[in-house]
Amino acid sequence: MKLIRTEDYTEMSLEAGKIIVEKIRSNPAITLGMATGSTPKGTYDYLIHDHKSNGTSYREVKTVNLDEYIGLPAEDSNSYHYFMRENLFQHLEISEDLTHIPNGTAPDLKLECQRYEQLIKDLGGVDLQILGIGQNGHIGFNEPGTPFSSRTHIVTLAQDTREANSRFFNSINEVPTHAITMGIATILESKEILLLISGENKAEALLKFMNGEISEDFPASALKNHHQVTVIADRAACKFI
Ligand code: F6R
Repeated sequence: MKLIRTEDYTEMSLEAGKIIVEKIRSNPAITLGMATGSTPKGTYDYLIHDHKSNGTSYREVKTVNLDEYIGLPAEDSNSYHYFMRENLFQHLEISEDLTHIPNGTAPDLKLECQRYEQLIKDLGGVDLQILGIGQNGHIGFNEPGTPFSSRTHIVTLAQDTREANSRFFNSINEVPTHAITMGIATILESKEILLLISGENKAEALLKFMNGEISEDFPASALKNHHQVTVIADRAACKFI
């Protein structure tokens, strides 16, 4: 595992963005695994800036997102479909057919999980997976206790995750209780993983990740079983390491 320490969020985003652009340039038909939330937002801004100023092409790039809330249609401003469209896709001239996000309003959610797993297989797997981390160590929406053998599945969101994410909603009652997420085994099959960690509120999670044992109680620890993980963490997140 490689750890890149950066001064702040901006530098973390820049470093991550540069790595992603380099990968796209060496493999223009790359399959990228995408995350949502506050952490990758600056990285996505960098990708947009780079696309506009350097012309990096997304014509053949394919994307698969980690997760989506159950019950929120794509038009809902809190859905991850909406997040990706607003914060990245619409700025990149990337064809909608090549961007994939679990459908949280599918009539048969179990079938949707199977479809998504198959889709990732059909794409030849994820070449580079971008990840954030929850304060409780979740990756995707795999909450503590999720088996490392899990594949794309339906989860009940932990109360602390709903509280953390309620900052985007009018009230916690509006935060969905369930989500679809790639499983931990699905994530570990990515050829390469880029884990981004920013801010003092993630410092304990980073400490646990670096020094703690590998345990299903701390989902991100599964990444230690992967041979191609790069962690980019800013100074605030590195407070205890
Ligand atoms: C989002 C995701 C989550 C987030 C995590 C951190 O697609 O999979 O695991 O990466 O909840 O969220 P932020 O970045 O908002 O702190």
